[in-house]
This record gives sequence, C-alpha cells and structure tokens, in this order.
Amino acid sequence: YLGDPSKYRPTIHYSPPSGFMNDPNGLVIKDHEFHLFYQYDPYAPIIGNVHWGHAVSGDLVRWVTLPVAINETAAGQAFSGSAVIFNNSLIAAIYTRASETKQAQELAFSSDNGRTFQEYKGNPVLDRNSDSFRDPQVFWDERTHEYKMTVVKARKHQVLIYGSRDLVNWRELSSFGPAGILGIDYECPNLMRVPTEDGHYKWVLAISINPGSPLGGSGTQYFVGDFDGTTFTPDYYETKFVDFGKDFYALQTYSNARAPLGIAWLSNWQYANFTPTGDWRGVMTLARGFGLRYTEDFKYFLTQKPVGLENLYRREVPVGAESCSVPGDKALEIHAIVELGPRSRISFSLLSENHEQLVWGYDANAGQAWIDRGRTFGFSQRFFTDKMSVAVIPGTTNIDLHAIFDKSTFELFLDDGTFVGTCLVFFEKLPNCLRYSLVGDGRVTNLTVNVLTP
Ligand code: FRU
Repeated sequence: YLGDPSKYRPTIHYSPPSGFMNDPNGLVIKDHEFHLFYQYDPYAPIIGNVHWGHAVSGDLVRWVTLPVAINETAAGQAFSGSAVIFNNSLIAAIYTRASETKQAQELAFSSDNGRTFQEYKGNPVLDRNSDSFRDPQVFWDERTHEYKMTVVKARKHQVLIYGSRDLVNWRELSSFGPAGILGIDYECPNLMRVPTEDGHYKWVLAISINPGSPLGGSGTQYFVGDFDGTTFTPDYYETKFVDFGKDFYALQTYSNARAPLGIAWLSNWQYANFTPTGDWRGVMTLARGFGLRYTEDFKYFLTQKPVGLENLYRREVPVGAESCSVPGDKALEIHAIVELGPRSRISFSLLSENHEQLVWGYDANAGQAWIDRGRTFGFSQRFFTDKMSVAVIPGTTNIDLHAIFDKSTFELFLDDGTFVGTCLVFFEKLPNCLRYSLVGDGRVTNLTVNVLTP
C-alpha cells in the first residue's frame, strides 16, 4: 500500500473495524437506536463467508460496532435482507440463506434489540427451489395491515411482491420486470413511499443491478409509480439512477422511519475487493432522506439530502479562491452557492502536496456537473474509472454544490439534492488545499468550509 491505509478510514461514515462489508441490511429503528446490519465477512477483507455484521447509532453519524448478529451456518451464508418490528417488541430479520445450490428466505427474531437472534425453527419461510432468489425487503403496509416483501428473481430480472400477516406464510401478489437496465442480476430491491413536493406521495421501486450498470459494474436504478398494496405500476418504464457516481449500491430504507431514510454501500463490485484500505474494506454512505420533485423534462425524480450532519460539531475554516489551511485528514463539508452566466463554468478542487487533485464542478453551457477523481494516486485498477457526470435541469445557472469529503469518500449534493454523485477517492497524501476557478461571468456568492467532527 501507499503509506498507512488507516488514513482512508472515514470519520463520519460507517466502516467495519476489520473484514469485508457490503450491502446495508436490516435497517430498522427501535428504542431510539438506528440499526445498521450489513453483509460482513469477519475473517478477511474480501467477499466470502457472509454473516450479518451489526452497528447502532443514536444520530446516524456516530456508530458503535456490535458483535455479529446472524451467522453463516452449515446451511449457507446469510445474504442480504431487511428487518421489521414484530409484535411491538421483537426485531424480525428476513434474509436470504444462500448455499451453492439454493437461495431461500429465512426468518430470525431478536428480543434484545438486535444483539442476538434466534433462527425461526420452520426456516426457510419462502423457498422457490431456486439458486437465484434473494434480498427480501419487508415493511409494514398500514393500508392492508400486512407485511409486504419485495424480493428478486435475480437472473430473471424480476421483482416479486409478497404479502404476509405473520412473516411465516407468504403469498405472491404480483411481479415487476424485466424492466429498465437488466445487467446480469437484479439485486436488493427496495420499495418506498416517498413524499412529493406538492404534498402528495408516490412509490419508488429501486433495483440494484450488477454487473452491467451504465457506468460499469454495480449501480442503483429506480422507477417512480404507484403501489396499490398488490402491484407496483410505474409511471414510465424509463430507468433513472439514484446517484450519478460510481459508488452507490444496494440502497435500503429504514423499514419503520416516518419519512424515507436510506443508506447505500459506498462501493462498486468492480473493485470492492481491491481497494487499498488494509485489513478492512467497505464503507456506507451518509444516511439520506428522500423526496420527489417534478419537472416537465424529468417528470418525477428522487431528491436526496444528507441526514445527521446537524448532529456533528462544525468548525468553520476561512477560505478564499485558494486556501491551503484545509485539513483533509478530517471530514470536510464544502458548500458553495454559485451564480453563473449561461456560458460559464465553475470548478472546485481539493489538492495535496503530491499534486493530486479531486475536482468537481458545473458547466452551465453544457448543463452538466462532474466529478473527476483521476488525478489521485492511492489506487489504480482497470475498472476504477475516474470521471462521472450528470445532466442538470436545462437552463440552470444558479446552483449550489454541497460536497462532503471524508478521507476516502466523496458525496456531492447538487442543486439542493436534485442530483447526487457519490464515489470513493484515494489520495496517496490527503489534501490540504481547496481551490476554485470560474471561467466566464458569474460569482461564488457563498463558500463555506466546515470541519465536521463526531
Ligand atoms: C448485492 C449482493 C446481494 C447478496 C449479497 C451477498 O451486493 O450480491 O444480492 O445478497 O450481495 O453478499
């Protein structure tokens, strides 16, 4: 490795102490704790021997790691799944038990707030005799007083929806797909009820695909539509992506949050097993709240805001057009509000003493925003491609760029969460300077840099 890999451990994003972490699982809130279970190999920093790891937080930014919650057993690995509150007192986890030949859905209960689980004796509770049937996402549906599950027939590119009153007996209600971008597998479906800006709500079905996402590898697409308790009907079959960065996968939302609140895995299967972080691998995104905005061009689309930052200490660092007093070994919030002429362009970069750069910006003439992690030297691999961009609402000249850099992660919230780009970034030497440059007319009306500490 290039230097000490501990420089890559984020401070306000969850990462496991050692071992390998992928998808967030079992997101549920109980007794003032946010639970984050996750796909976890406790033995080695590479995928394999999958268990459910566990962390809890009171504020979504300070996480405490707890012992492994659900084990790999002789019957197979404990693949992705979700959790709900059962009988007002228990946490019920519903997950895929995966062997070489079979993937079926199992159930386990916890009466001690997720610290330990007892497997249900009658497992599996949902079995189609398939080796490609996984990732159940369950939530309580108020309208029908029933649990609903989305789950994928992965290789067939279908999401099945089931209903159950007791989590044990499931009846098939409907199916969705093949639709959108199929990739090789559909994975980790997530159906959520999302408020619209005009005071209503619609349903959003997110489907992760891997490999075969447009940027390469794994990515999370979604459809906006309605769910009548039985069937999900999209408004359009056109696919949108939740995030324009390369590292946003397996999005899941808290099953019992009052408003949609989710976490994704901040990585990509193309290189997740190779990142230069030493004896641990895997990091989660910040928690995000979701909404729906409508425009003529885009119809309904998801908006996102980071949640939990208000619970951190914020120390403002005074900055100008170029400032080398920026502590890149801390989590940084870089928030700019920019007014641009129609032909102008703004770019920001974080720079290190090694002449490494992470660059992001917005080009009003092109109507596109971008992130470029190409001039950082800490990691190189054939699939670790470096440039990402997104088409912004045509005519946008005033824009805010809200970036969160946390040692090896970068999340860029544009235009009040209208577009978000998320990616890993590996500086050989962490940055210490921030620079911006504006081409054409316009001005940076506000630039605030905060150090965020737990
Ligand atoms: C998605 C995924 C899931 C599976 C899990 C295994 O990243 O492939 O489909 O349940 O990871 O760890």
